[in-house]
Amino acid sequence: MIKKIAILTSGGDAPGMNAAIRAVVRMAVYNGLEVMGVRRGFAGLINGELFRMDRHSVSDIIQRGGTMLRTARCEEFKNEEVRQKAANILQAYGIDALVVIGGDGSFTGAKLLSKLGVAAVGIPGTIDNDLSYTDYTIGFDTALNTVHDAINKLRDTSTSHERVSVIEVMGRRCGDIALYAGLAGGAEGIIVPEKNFDKEELIRTILDGKNTGKMHNIIVLAEGVGGANELASFIENISGLETRATILGHIQRGGSPTVNDIVLASRLGAKAVEVLMKGETARVVGIRDNQIIDEDIDEALAKKRNFDDNLYEIAKILSL
Ligand code: F6P
Repeated sequence: MIKKIAILTSGGDAPGMNAAIRAVVRMAVYNGLEVMGVRRGFAGLINGELFRMDRHSVSDIIQRGGTMLRTARCEEFKNEEVRQKAANILQAYGIDALVVIGGDGSFTGAKLLSKLGVAAVGIPGTIDNDLSYTDYTIGFDTALNTVHDAINKLRDTSTSHERVSVIEVMGRRCGDIALYAGLAGGAEGIIVPEKNFDKEELIRTILDGKNTGKMHNIIVLAEGVGGANELASFIENISGLETRATILGHIQRGGSPTVNDIVLASRLGAKAVEVLMKGETARVVGIRDNQIIDEDIDEALAKKRNFDDNLYEIAKILSL
C-alpha cells in the first residue's frame, strides 16, 4: 500500500507536461495519497528540492506549455552513489513511489532508482515521439502543430520569391516530427535518419516541380540527419534555384499544448497513479491503438522503433 508519492519532470520539456502533472496530483489526492513535487528533475531530487502539493497546486496549469516543476538533464544520475543519495532523500520524506515524466534518459533514471527500492513509473513526455512502446508521446502533437504553422509561413515567402525552403526540425534520432509535419505541410522532400537520402532524387523532384509550374519547394529535414545550411547550398548550386535554410530550434518545445496532448497527458497521468496504487513498480504508461497501457520499463526501453514507411511513401506521392 503506497501512501505518499513524488513527481518530477526530467530531460527536455514538452507541451502537455503540466497537464500530466495536474492529472497525477489530482488523481493521487482523490485516492487519498499525499503528493510531493520535485523541482528540476533528478538534479533537484539530489539537492532535496521537494515541496508538498495539493489539488490547488496544479490549478491553472492545464493549458500552459513548459513544466511548472522545471526540468533538467542530470548526467550525475548515471553514478550509482548519486542515485543512492536520491533514494535516501525520498526515504527521508517517507515517499513510497516516484512518477517520472520525460523521455528515454529519464526512464533509465527511473528504472535504476526502482532497483534501489523506490517504486517508479514513467510517463512519456517528449516532443520527439521516439519511445517505441507507445504510439505517441506527450508534446509530439503540439510540436507538430508548431512546425506546421512554421511551414505554412515559410511557404508564403518561398512562393513570393520562388525559392526552395529547407526547414530543419527537432526529433533527435527520430524522424517522426519531420515525417508528420512534412506530410501535413505538403513538403516536396522529407529527409529522416530512418531512410536513405538520395540527393540526386531530391534535385530531380525539385526541378520536375519547377518544370510543371511549382512556385516553391519545401524540404523538411530531421535534425538526426542535420546540415540544413549545407543542404541549402547544395540545392542552390545544382538546381540554380535560390534556397534558404531555417532551423526551427527550441520554438518547437514551447507553446500551449493541443487538445490531443492535454487529453493524452490526462489519461496517462491518471493511469500512472492507478499503476502505483496496484503496488507495481518499474513500469511505464503509454498509448497503443488508443488504449492506455502500462508495461515493464526494461521491455519498453528494449523495443525497437518502427518507422512508418507507408506514411513516408504516401507523403512522397501526395506532394508530387
Ligand atoms: O528531446 C527533445 C529535444 O528537443 C530534441 O528534439 C533535441 O535534440 C534536444 O531535446 C535538444 O536539447 P537541449 O534543449 O538540451 O538543447
